[in-house]
Amino acid sequence: MTIQLAQKFEVVFGRAPEVVARAPGRVEFIGNHTDYNGGSVLGAAIDRGVWVALAPRTDGQWRFASDPNPRILSLRVGEPHRQTGDRRWLNYPLGVIAALPAFGLRAPAGFDCLVMSDLPAGAGLSSSAALELASALAFLAFTGQDAPRATVVKIGRHAENHFVGVPCGILDQGVSGFGKKDRLVFIDCRGPRFATVPMSADAQFWIFNTHTKHALVDGLYAARHRECMAAAKALGVSLLADAKSSQLEATRAKLAPAVFARARHIIEEIARVGATVRALRAGNLTKVGRLLTASHRSSQTLFENSTPELDFLVDTLTTRPNVYGARLTGGGFGGAVMALTSKKFGAAQARSVATAYARKFGAAPDILHTKTDDGATVIT
Ligand code: GLA
Repeated sequence: MTIQLAQKFEVVFGRAPEVVARAPGRVEFIGNHTDYNGGSVLGAAIDRGVWVALAPRTDGQWRFASDPNPRILSLRVGEPHRQTGDRRWLNYPLGVIAALPAFGLRAPAGFDCLVMSDLPAGAGLSSSAALELASALAFLAFTGQDAPRATVVKIGRHAENHFVGVPCGILDQGVSGFGKKDRLVFIDCRGPRFATVPMSADAQFWIFNTHTKHALVDGLYAARHRECMAAAKALGVSLLADAKSSQLEATRAKLAPAVFARARHIIEEIARVGATVRALRAGNLTKVGRLLTASHRSSQTLFENSTPELDFLVDTLTTRPNVYGARLTGGGFGGAVMALTSKKFGAAQARSVATAYARKFGAAPDILHTKTDDGATVIT
């Protein structure tokens, strides 16, 4: 891919890139919407990602292109402004540029930038966080600056929160930044504190991307965020991670039923993340799988961020042999389901799930068989 990227760069910009960085996408393993509530979460960086290549310019322009659409989009170097329409994807690298000074770092001068990806967008695999992290590493290398990994992760989240305008937590950027092959990333989101947990060699990930997306997905995400903050306030805690189930029960009468349900999901989901870490350490994948499916059921009934398409995939997958568990991965309201399976689960079985889905919903989901991989890195 790096060679392809260099060749493409030559075609689009007529010279070689000086800096290339790559950041992986992620699957949210368990911990649905726990991150911005100060809880913990487990994710895996995957072997699909986003590449960002840069070469300097001296005429005061930032120029961007993306593969496979090499149309060059030019901006004047200066204060980045939010882009709309088919230039919206520029908000991820521009958001990173806008974030750098907030971390005491210099923004880059003129450049040509090419973005390439083998990560499907809109699949709940965090292509936006991957673009932010690859951009952040590329801009730092390009300007000869260095920053601790946790800072790079925070720069990505800052871009998303303050420039793109999504009140997301640290999960996506944290996993893309701290991923390790054959391991899951554990994040205690309050610190944030990052660690890894070994993933059994017998486990595999299958992603079923439904290509469905609720029209109001960003608004719904923000609405869940607001409901969680309202619940925390009613419980007298700063974030729901500080609340106990007994406290929630005692406050039930004061809360709207939907707000109560959201809070219950968060409190129980944080407990499931802890139980999953213990089950992983004990090598008990059957138990891990049960926790994953329980997480989905909680998203479905309490957090209400699932869809009939995602539920159907989880219902179907969990009746098949060699599947430990399945759940929606990411923000929800459409997107993808992740299944954790043993090595005995193969492409034919995955296709049969996709066929059952197509019979019901008309179109088959994309199937992605992914492996864990290392986090974001500067390649050249
Ligand atoms: C999206 C957000 C994350 C996290 C998940 C839900 O992926 O970007 O920060 O909140 O949804 O767990």
